[in-house]
Amino acid sequence: MEYGVILPSLLSFSLLLLMAAVRAQMPGFVSLDCGGRANFTDDLGLRWTPDDQLLYGETTNISVANETRKQYQTLRFFPADNRKYCYTLKVISRTRYLVRATFLYGNFDNNNVYPKFDISLGATHWATIVVSDASTIEFQELIFLALDSTISVCLSNATTGQAFISTLELRQFNGSVYLTQYESQFYLSTSARINFGADSEAPIRYPDDPFDRIWESDSLKKANYLVDVASGTEKISTRMPINVNTGERPPQKVMQTAMVGRNGSLTYRLNLDGFPGFGWAFTYFAEIESLGPNETRKFRLVLPGMPDLSKPVVNIQENAQGKYRLYEPGYYNISLPFVLSFRFGKTSDSSMGPLLNAMEINKYIKKSDGSIDESVIASVISLYPSADWAQEGGDPCLPVPWSWVQCNSDPQPRIVKIILSEKNLTGNIPSDLTKLIGVVELWLDGNLLTGPIPDFSRCMDLKIIHLENNQLTGELPSFLVDLPNLRELYVQNNKLSGTVPSHLVDRNLILNYTGNINLHKGNNRGSHIKIIIGSSVGAAVMLVATIASCLLMHKEKMKYLKQDQLEHTKHTQRLVLSLGDGANEAAHCFALSELEDATRKFEKKVGSGGFGVVYYGKLKDGNEIAVKVLTSNSYQGKREFSNEVTLLSRIHHRNLVQFLGYCQEEGKSILVYELMHNGTLKEHLYGPRTHEQSISWIKRLEIAEDTAKEKLIGLLCPLACLGIEYLHTGCVPSIIHRDLKTSNILLDKNMRAKVSDFGLSKLAVEGASHVSSIVRGTVGYYISQQLTDKSDVYSFGVILLELISGQEAISNESFGVNCRNIVQWAKLHIENGDIQGIIDPSLHDEYDIQSMWKIAEKALMCVQPHGNTRPSMSEVLKEIQDAISIEKGADVVREGNSDEISRNSMHSSLVMGGSLDLGDHCLSIDESSAQPTAR
Ligand SMILES: *[C@@H]1O[C@H](CO)[C@@H](O)[C@H](O)[C@H]1NC(C)=O
Ligand SMILES: *[C@@H]1O[C@H](CO)[C@@H](O)[C@H](O)[C@H]1NC(C)=O
Ligand SMILES: *[C@@H]1O[C@H](CO)[C@@H](O)[C@H](O)[C@H]1NC(C)=O
Ligand SMILES: *[C@@H]1O[C@H](CO)[C@@H](O)[C@H](O)[C@H]1NC(C)=O
Ligand SMILES: *[C@@H]1O[C@H](CO)[C@@H](O)[C@H](O)[C@H]1NC(C)=O
Ligand SMILES: *[C@@H]1O[C@H](CO)[C@@H](O)[C@H](O)[C@H]1NC(C)=O
Repeated sequence: MEYGVILPSLLSFSLLLLMAAVRAQMPGFVSLDCGGRANFTDDLGLRWTPDDQLLYGETTNISVANETRKQYQTLRFFPADNRKYCYTLKVISRTRYLVRATFLYGNFDNNNVYPKFDISLGATHWATIVVSDASTIEFQELIFLALDSTISVCLSNATTGQAFISTLELRQFNGSVYLTQYESQFYLSTSARINFGADSEAPIRYPDDPFDRIWESDSLKKANYLVDVASGTEKISTRMPINVNTGERPPQKVMQTAMVGRNGSLTYRLNLDGFPGFGWAFTYFAEIESLGPNETRKFRLVLPGMPDLSKPVVNIQENAQGKYRLYEPGYYNISLPFVLSFRFGKTSDSSMGPLLNAMEINKYIKKSDGSIDESVIASVISLYPSADWAQEGGDPCLPVPWSWVQCNSDPQPRIVKIILSEKNLTGNIPSDLTKLIGVVELWLDGNLLTGPIPDFSRCMDLKIIHLENNQLTGELPSFLVDLPNLRELYVQNNKLSGTVPSHLVDRNLILNYTGNINLHKGNNRGSHIKIIIGSSVGAAVMLVATIASCLLMHKEKMKYLKQDQLEHTKHTQRLVLSLGDGANEAAHCFALSELEDATRKFEKKVGSGGFGVVYYGKLKDGNEIAVKVLTSNSYQGKREFSNEVTLLSRIHHRNLVQFLGYCQEEGKSILVYELMHNGTLKEHLYGPRTHEQSISWIKRLEIAEDTAKEKLIGLLCPLACLGIEYLHTGCVPSIIHRDLKTSNILLDKNMRAKVSDFGLSKLAVEGASHVSSIVRGTVGYYISQQLTDKSDVYSFGVILLELISGQEAISNESFGVNCRNIVQWAKLHIENGDIQGIIDPSLHDEYDIQSMWKIAEKALMCVQPHGNTRPSMSEVLKEIQDAISIEKGADVVREGNSDEISRNSMHSSLVMGGSLDLGDHCLSIDESSAQPTAR
């Protein structure tokens, strides 16, 4: 029996189901009832499907007192062997999901020891499931960004008892609440998601939470949470609606309850599964009590041993800008212990004690890099879509290898043995097998393989080759002679022809080639000549191989060296940026003459500013380029300039204008970039290109999205730079962004935006100073909201307003009397509900008013006078993406509120501040504080 599995038909029918059941549950939900036999919809409206397509494992019924849910009446269990058993689920690449596996033991095996086994996601060890009680549901959740079109959840390593599973649930997010800078390297594993002041012990989940996260009741774990309960701790609740901004925040029902510390303190102690370690921790607050006019509620978080965390003061009403509104401070990366004791304590000038509605703590789990051969072997097994052995799922080597594969024990393992004997393989020997360069033993005997023996000459470790009992044709290839470690070669009973290289016969090799009618041992004379030719060729090959491997080893060594050096900034390093390893990443050096030819002696000027004049150029190969001749000659030293340029060349990101090379000759310092055909955003919105063709609203949103994405990684540049610091001393931090403005946003042929002018360190000194001090102090790890550069958010808000209105940020004419500034002008209109008053007339009503409101509202939040009240860049990005999906008509499956309702609620939330007097307000704003510049 084979143990592979994939669920193609199951998956496709569950997708079909989803289509039919949009009303019943969110799209992107998969709920597998393991061991179940029928489809059903539960009381919550979740649609469950059985895992009956699974080829292995056994199913059984269980019965646990008080557990009546149908999905917990059955389970599937697996043999206690050294294999892994995988569920493969379809996902949408570049989308965030929550995956939840649950386990209710129910004493299914009547064993007197509780099972203990491992669960993994792909190659990554996810958790060890330890059953401690027959009637308690264990569960594990991971939040991850799908990078592929499938995921595998595998059970393995049953240390005691048998591995089993009750349910497997997949929930798709549609936004970026869980976006972190680390998500390409780490998963988030849920440790705590707590609803404080809960009405009952029942958790809050779907449909209250549209993503079916489980918000556990704090009353359930009272014993644990409230070990040293502070006096005056009380439960409060409200029925008032709470503005939670977007659906990925805690659902309203969670926010409507809270605990308060009437005597000034709230204390908690909780066990954090999976910790100690680094985690993502957010608290959720909403003011749900009526504070008198001169009452305040201000408090601080106190964590033993972490005095820095006690500095920020929470003032919910002020931070959230009103009552019944969500405020969600937190840390993207914080080191937490297993037993977390914390206190919220009121400040001395506060009249009310602290309040806490909810909190969420996730642990970072390092993603395994997977085995080296994963993609090669994936293309091999794709040739056998219906073979069981090709469908075991997950990584070929990790956490345990497939049944027909053996791997070495390197951290990133290689396949060393392939055992595909007697698997009815047809066709040629898959040529991808020759790319498994670590393979030592190859067993392909007893199949129906035809065609020639492919060239395994790169697999220098090959020791044992079994090809017997197939229908292979052609000659015994000569590379076999050169495999230095070959000890056994079995090719009997094939249709091979020609002569056996006598070198093969002579050497100390077990060779069986009987049963090949046309294959003969070569005669002595012929083979003698062959040996000579063979060996001289062989020697040459050996020589080349030796040189090559020396070079390779040298390079590998260098790589390890650097890896060591970079170890401590590893995560930040490998985020969205791809940083070259230096060896082959040196910037291209253009000859001045080449650039003179390309630009026809700097004939056509296409832009200026940012320390130089930019010229159009076309290289001999036809590629168009932008050539920036730097005016400032701050780079006297040739080496200094090229060091800087090397750094520039290490930063690649799809939303950054690509740096192609440089030139420094005859006192000129020149930078070469890819040509952005459509010039700057500024030119299109209110510059010379306005009349070409107005940019549609959805295009503008996409431009905003591109820019926001770049901004998110922009922050990381200086961090990434820390790693390089070791290689190039003096780089702290060299690469930073200058102000975001429409003249720095360039548009390519397809009107996608890229950000330019990520300056050289020298050129960008002014901007760099504040960043460098933060970064120096934190060495990579502590990236929290504090590091979120709120001045960028301000600049970005201004850009959003420019995109909405097509107006320049500062203008003497456009904004009426006494008002020179887009922020003041837009604020007045938006807060008065008059969004039409600012929308660019050239958009001609071709937009969805709801998406327009979304962006306008967010833009206003971005330009709040105080940095700490501005949203984070990732929140803004999420809003833009929402607006894009509204424009694309993706809102049909949204929850059923009509446009009318949401528009009204947006108005009311904005107008809450009271009606505004146009003229006065505009005058009263301090000009300097409203300047759309970075601060
Ligand atoms: C579940 O529903 C799908 C689609 O409605 C159907 O194809 C499938 O056969 C059902 N499975 C069972 C076990 O009833
Ligand atoms: C099961 O339900 C009964 C009655 O509702 C209750 O007394 C008992 O404590 C419950 N047992 C468990 C394990 O929850
Ligand atoms: C299996 O589990 C045991 C105990 O939990 C652990 O020591 C061992 O390393 C695990 N083996 C693998 C291959 O993960
Ligand atoms: C508000 O402040 C005034 C003057 O300081 C004081 O008299 C009054 O008692 C306060 N009211 C409350 C509810 O604290
Ligand atoms: C190979 O094919 C034969 C005949 O169809 C079948 O009996 C055997 O089970 C197959 N073996 C494998 C490993 O699929
Ligand atoms: C070679 O293979 C044939 C057929 O499998 C077998 O009968 C013979 O014993 C083998 N010879 C040696 C030397 O192993």
